[in-house]
Amino acid sequence: MNTVRIALTKGRLEKNAIDLFESIGYDCTSLREKGRKLILPIGGGIDIVLAKAADVITYVEHGVCDVGIVGKDTIMENGRSFYEVLDLGFGRCRFALAGSTGQEFYSGYNAKRIATKYPNVARRFFEEKCMDVEIIKIEGSVELAPLLGLSDAIVDIIETGNTLKENGLEIIEEICTISARMIVNIPSMKLKKIELEKLFNLIENSKEEAK
Ligand code: PRP
Repeated sequence: MNTVRIALTKGRLEKNAIDLFESIGYDCTSLREKGRKLILPIGGGIDIVLAKAADVITYVEHGVCDVGIVGKDTIMENGRSFYEVLDLGFGRCRFALAGSTGQEFYSGYNAKRIATKYPNVARRFFEEKCMDVEIIKIEGSVELAPLLGLSDAIVDIIETGNTLKENGLEIIEEICTISARMIVNIPSMKLKKIELEKLFNLIENSKEEAK
């Protein structure tokens, strides 16, 4: 059997992914007690590689990891060439345009300034509306931008809505829903067909059982 290397996004998706691997019979002790180790075997010929979201895509595209677990938000922003095989159902949140509570975002003729960690997603959203906007890339805590007067609104992911609420912001328009996806390197799909089909079947069956 070939070893299958799975790149897993560190942080928000990590716990749910570990729960998923445990539920389908893998021993995730090494992941739960990982310390600073970044490549962790979970038995059954699977190694988990812990990486930042955008790097998960890079490793899968270059074929150094066969599989990736990454949010649809990162795929929409960075996605290039790989197979997106499964919606894992966790990590559910939404992309939305948000701004100060009560603000009339669509009024006026001036080009709006939009702060975001996702410039490609924001650009496409406004292109579809034929709206000219200035996009400002921010690395995190994007909600600060309208509070500090840097932007008129933000395009960001919203999970509970608490960050918006606690900072006097609200959703202006929802863009789409997102969740964690399983992606696969294109050559790996053929070269490791047997191993990957086994993994996909285990996950599909566990999703069916959870229903
Ligand atoms: C995300 C997102 C929002 C927040 C939304 O940021 O960019 O800031 O979570 O979650 P909520 O609706 O449950 O409040 P994250 O925590 O990933 O940190 P970052 O802003 O530093 O990237």
